[in-house]
Amino acid sequence: MTLAEKLGQLQQLDGDFPTGAGRPEQFEMVRKGTLGSTLNVRGAKNVNELQRAALASRLKIPHLFAFDVIHGYRTIFPVPLGEAASFDPKAAELSAYIAAKESRSAGVAWTFAPMVDIARDPRWGRIVEGAGEDTFLGVEFAKARVRGFQGTDYSQPDRVLACAKHWVAYGAAQGGRDYNTTDISENTLYNVYFPPFKAAADAGADTFMSSFNDLNGVPATANRWVMTDVLRKEWKFDGFVVSDYTAVMELLNHGIAKDESDAAQLALNAGVDMEMVSRFYNTHGEQLLKDRKLTAATIDEAVRRILRVKYRLGLFDKPYTDESLEAKTLLAPEHRKAAREIAAKSFVLLKNDRQTLPLRKNIDELAIIGGLADSKEDVLGSWNGDGKVADAVTLLEGVRNKLGNNTKIRYAKGCDAKCEDTSEFNKAVDAAKDSDFTILVVGESAAMSGEAASRSNLDLPGRQLDLVKAIHATGKPYAVVLMNGRPLTINWVAENSPAILETWFAGTEAGNAIADVLFGDVNPSGKLPVTFPRSIGQIPIFYNMMNTGRPFKEAEKYTSKYLDIPNTPLYPFGYGLSYTNFQLSNVRLSSKQIAPTGSLTVSVDVQNTGSRDGTEVVQLYIRDLVGSVTRPVKELKGFERVALRAGEKRTVTFTLKPEQLGFYNAANKFVVEPGDFKVWVSQSSDGGLEDNFTVR
Ligand code: BGC
Repeated sequence: MTLAEKLGQLQQLDGDFPTGAGRPEQFEMVRKGTLGSTLNVRGAKNVNELQRAALASRLKIPHLFAFDVIHGYRTIFPVPLGEAASFDPKAAELSAYIAAKESRSAGVAWTFAPMVDIARDPRWGRIVEGAGEDTFLGVEFAKARVRGFQGTDYSQPDRVLACAKHWVAYGAAQGGRDYNTTDISENTLYNVYFPPFKAAADAGADTFMSSFNDLNGVPATANRWVMTDVLRKEWKFDGFVVSDYTAVMELLNHGIAKDESDAAQLALNAGVDMEMVSRFYNTHGEQLLKDRKLTAATIDEAVRRILRVKYRLGLFDKPYTDESLEAKTLLAPEHRKAAREIAAKSFVLLKNDRQTLPLRKNIDELAIIGGLADSKEDVLGSWNGDGKVADAVTLLEGVRNKLGNNTKIRYAKGCDAKCEDTSEFNKAVDAAKDSDFTILVVGESAAMSGEAASRSNLDLPGRQLDLVKAIHATGKPYAVVLMNGRPLTINWVAENSPAILETWFAGTEAGNAIADVLFGDVNPSGKLPVTFPRSIGQIPIFYNMMNTGRPFKEAEKYTSKYLDIPNTPLYPFGYGLSYTNFQLSNVRLSSKQIAPTGSLTVSVDVQNTGSRDGTEVVQLYIRDLVGSVTRPVKELKGFERVALRAGEKRTVTFTLKPEQLGFYNAANKFVVEPGDFKVWVSQSSDGGLEDNFTVR
């Protein structure tokens, strides 16, 4: 390979997003062998066209087509945070598999997913793209999503190459402001932020994306410690790293590179192999070699990593996409069916006084209120691939589909998600007054979360709370349906509204899935993958905090607390109700004492004590009481979805192994330390049945 051809493999450029076509300049570069990859070029025909140019180049190295397939390609699934609320990694594996199948049929071989950033700050809009605040849950979803995208062999025509992003600590942006600096101790990186990435790599994810943020003084994209020492040397990762969009260029703004060539040198030497969109490697590579600021070996190694993955993708054997598959694959009926089922699993019943829900299907007159109730765009969420607004089913449509013509439905918008204008509140109030029941849909627009969508205030936007209060004041029964991409501070609603169903942004089949749950065809089973604070002043608030030297004690002044609000969240991690009730009893441990290399089982009986079939997510938490570094007051170490018929009782057994009992010590070595542990089995991170054991 010539130097230009080598540098070409390190370059990725952005195609034309609206049409999915490659740009004229890109065709030329590809023909010359100086462009190895694009993002956003998609659609079998577009892809094949550009691929033909690649195969007309001197070396005939196939082109690699990337796209952000975050929660679906054409069939859109719930936003990842919502999907994590299912506590069902199998569901995530299935949605990733369907997304892979659709993507590959459209020529996309590489997705920029899963996003496995731990996010403990709901102000950060990108909390919507991951699995929430918890490392254990994040690990399980990271593995499942990688398996779903890649299968066991990502050269298969229904699989895509995965990309674990954003490496690393992007979710810890100061103040929750996107792209902001992060400063996280190495030990917290090892214990909290790294594990989902490690799990993704171990599950076979062959690409990583370098994050935008400055990390402990060295931007991730120039950070040799994370890109090479941890990822390659410690974890033996042999795939490649792509920079985030213009992240190499942004090293200038970070003030770590004095010019373009310096930025290229820093990123490549750190271990970032492919440059997305900016072109510093290509522009300055040759001179950097001459100046000996870069070695030929470094360039060769980056090229080798990229070509290895192209081989693994099977592109050399099968560079073209079969153009006959796309139309029948996209939005296939079984994909929509899966999207509907997974969406229903993602909903979290936050409150249900006096069995307000589910609703009877023979209700005579029903009011549906809220701009979000009939917005196709918003249910598709913040990063909806090649999803089409026209495909989406809104809540209003879903309820109509469910009830047919026997119910008179009065729809009144009230206001849109911004809710600056209250002039239509009256119509909404009238609709509620005239109806037997009201479904009131409030929350955020999809654009209020996702990238570059941080918020400093987590209340319902605009005057929406006034709308809720106005409907409440009618005295008629109602339920609140939330759509949002992050935890919201909804104290008034939590206290006063009779029922609340959290539905996130549920994707193409949102409306049908919501109707399934509202009318009791599906019993809600989701649990919060992230804490709902009472106030933004509590942030960061997550269930697995440290105890502190002065843990909160009622009526004692010098303990860790706020003067004006409790320490407790509005809704804890792992929380969610059902239309039935479950009871846990009879916790038993296989042993009260184990060796550091040993394991034990924790069993519990779980019974459905209500009169409806349902599914409970039984959760296992531990606390390591004394450690060489401080340990969280609780840590999730197991969970299982248990489907039980009314009255049915079953035993659930969890196994605690060294990998669950250990942690990274001050030297960042994984250790299981002798000592006492508490263990809980529970229905959320709050409370539960407690026992204990000793590691000796
Ligand atoms: C985002 C990435 C994304 C990339 C390509 C960036 O702005 O941070 O998550 O994969 O764009 O679209």
